[in-house]
Amino acid sequence: MYNSRIIGMGKYLPDNVVTNDDLAKLMDTSDEWITERTGIKERRHIIKGSEDTPATMGHKAALMALERAGLEPKDIDLILFATLSPDYYFPGSGVLVQKLLGIPACPAMDIRMQCSGFIYGISTADQFIKTGMYKNVLVIGAENHSGGLDFTTRGRGVSVIFGDGAGAAVLTREEDTARGVLSTHLYSEGEHAEELSLIGPSTQRWVPEIMAENDPEDISYYPYMNGQTVFKHAVVRFSEVINEGLQKNGWEAADIDLLVPHQANLRISQFVQKKFRLNDDQVYNNIMRYGNTTAASIPIALTEAWEEGKVKEGDKVVLAAFGSGFTWGSALMVW
Ligand code: UT7
Repeated sequence: MYNSRIIGMGKYLPDNVVTNDDLAKLMDTSDEWITERTGIKERRHIIKGSEDTPATMGHKAALMALERAGLEPKDIDLILFATLSPDYYFPGSGVLVQKLLGIPACPAMDIRMQCSGFIYGISTADQFIKTGMYKNVLVIGAENHSGGLDFTTRGRGVSVIFGDGAGAAVLTREEDTARGVLSTHLYSEGEHAEELSLIGPSTQRWVPEIMAENDPEDISYYPYMNGQTVFKHAVVRFSEVINEGLQKNGWEAADIDLLVPHQANLRISQFVQKKFRLNDDQVYNNIMRYGNTTAASIPIALTEAWEEGKVKEGDKVVLAAFGSGFTWGSALMVW
């Protein structure tokens, strides 16, 4: 029996910084509203026409993670690519990263679990490594939100929150089962699928159909979010799934060296922090700088925490996420 362990992390953010004041020029919003309700001060948006896509950003994050892991692309046995904004409808972005990395043949899978995508990716990597089937797995989370948001006042409840970027992790086989990923806990609840969703274009809303209707009121091709419902479920599920992980491993909340929550809203992270009575050093947040980057948020945050020396060998690290689906999950590891 093996464990899996993260041995390299990487990130990539587009250069283009968009502040709350920049958004206030496009819609009826304010720095005060966004800061107070979400904690976000700025986010990154891909400049249209640049070479940045989920796959190219994921590729750059992956190269950084590989270098830090001391591995070459050819060492990777499996690529897992988590995104809700893939480059193409099909094929998935995983195969595009495989091409960019120059790996001639290996499995490359896309994970469609939105904000929980990276945790699902870690869990999937962990299962393949634990069984001995694969040794080195690359998990990427990358998003291009800005290309598909409604930057008018009509879309302000969603468009001020989300940002673009990518993060990546390299996991490898760990023979010391006291180290690495100790447990992962995954959930979905499809009953709430439409509460945070993008309905069309899809097989239910084909592009020719949308174009033929030519309905100026039709905004089904923009993401929809019932913010308050999502918020209420998020605080409950975050707490449950972190607790489940703590109990499974016999840890107390006080044992956590670092909790890296999905960066959905600073208020959600603060609620969770308070609930578990964690001090500021035990929780990592960077939503202020990047907004909510969905599947990329945890790997970007974990990369920065590691770069800042906040994750050290032997530390007990907890990752947790909640989002569209609804989906949620946690991963507990000893670094
Ligand atoms: O990644 C995981 C998924 N996402 C989340 O976890 C998000 C969870 N939800 C939230 O974070 C919060 O619900 C939001 C930040 C999205 C919204 O905050 P809220 O406190 O729930 O606001 P609200 O939607 O109830 O809207 C309050 C008011 C409304 O105006 P009225 O009806 O009271 O006049 C909105 O129209 O704020 C208005 N509003 C805005 N005003 C200025 C909504 N968006 C904006 C905006 N700027 N950007």
